[in-house]
Amino acid sequence: ARITLRQLLDDAAEHGYGVPAFNINNMEQALGIMEAAAAVDAPVILQASRGARSYANDIMLAKMVEALEEMYPQIPLCLHLDHGNEEATCATALRYGFTSVMMDGSLEADAKTPASYDYNVAITRRVVDLAHWVGASVEGELGVLGSLEQGGGEQEDGHGVIGEVSHDQLLTDPDQAVDFVRATRVDALAIAMGTSHGAYKFSRKPDGDILAMHVIEEIHRRMPGVHLVMHGSSSVPQELQDMFNAFGGEMPQTWGVPVEEIVRGIRHGVRKVNIDTDCRLAMTAAFRKVASENRSEFDPRKFLKPAMEGLKTLCRERFEAFGTAGHA
Ligand code: G3H
Ligand code: 13P
Ligand code: NA
Ligand code: ZN
Repeated sequence: ARITLRQLLDDAAEHGYGVPAFNINNMEQALGIMEAAAAVDAPVILQASRGARSYANDIMLAKMVEALEEMYPQIPLCLHLDHGNEEATCATALRYGFTSVMMDGSLEADAKTPASYDYNVAITRRVVDLAHWVGASVEGELGVLGSLEQGGGEQEDGHGVIGEVSHDQLLTDPDQAVDFVRATRVDALAIAMGTSHGAYKFSRKPDGDILAMHVIEEIHRRMPGVHLVMHGSSSVPQELQDMFNAFGGEMPQTWGVPVEEIVRGIRHGVRKVNIDTDCRLAMTAAFRKVASENRSEFDPRKFLKPAMEGLKTLCRERFEAFGTAGHA
């Protein structure tokens, strides 16, 4: 059954668990995630980015999620827009059955520089009004994603490191967070605490200096009832890097967000955990294995089936670690 982000995260807060939000672009990703959810009885958040919507087409995504609801009637499912960059993007998602949208006003539409606070509040508030009229939820974002490690990580949109902005400006300011939630009435708040999108987050296992867990703890202390969202939460597991590289891949050594740090965040109000890179890596490592071990293989199903299995294993591990398992 389709549920809103607010319904799901309220239940997560009540029972003290977190929910991974996995990105989907196609049938195999969606099936891998749903198979994992069904195996451990977990509710799911499927999220589609603007890139996913143009890759698969809104009609295809909408009908596919309708099919998933019919195939997995026991699994509560939230369909969420990841990183909506303007009001129209959010409005069209609602029209196609998304039950939740992210209005990311931390950057101006299509810009790479941080937006003003007033811009962010105003546009997010307008999207909250629109979404709430039709019974959908809204995630807002305050602060700018980007690694606090010198030279590490990618900016918000994956296009290089942030040049001119100081580290403190990137982290979410707890005072501003309180004002932002009150002014916008968002259902969930994405915060910046030193993570970035993509595989190249950190050049060593992150410690307390580069992963600002204190920001989460402080915001949660100030607003214990607000659902927090961690973006850039892939762990980039060593074993997936090794598998990818063992079969012809060339991924330089990198570190993501350790699962135990995410679990620590969940103890401090993190309810939605965005994961895309790990899912991509789990699938493509499996493609590479098939391609290199059976060089005459050309049936795409022979690649996609193990890829789905790899994704299912990854998703299942996250459902179990975050305490989502058993809450469908
Ligand atoms: O935030 C980025 C997500 O990983 C989605 O990536 O825009 O390439 O679909 P994408
Ligand atoms: P990762 O690149 O760490 O998987 O983050 C995904 C994300 O934040 C999507 O919004
Ligand atoms: Na999102
Ligand atoms: Zn994100």
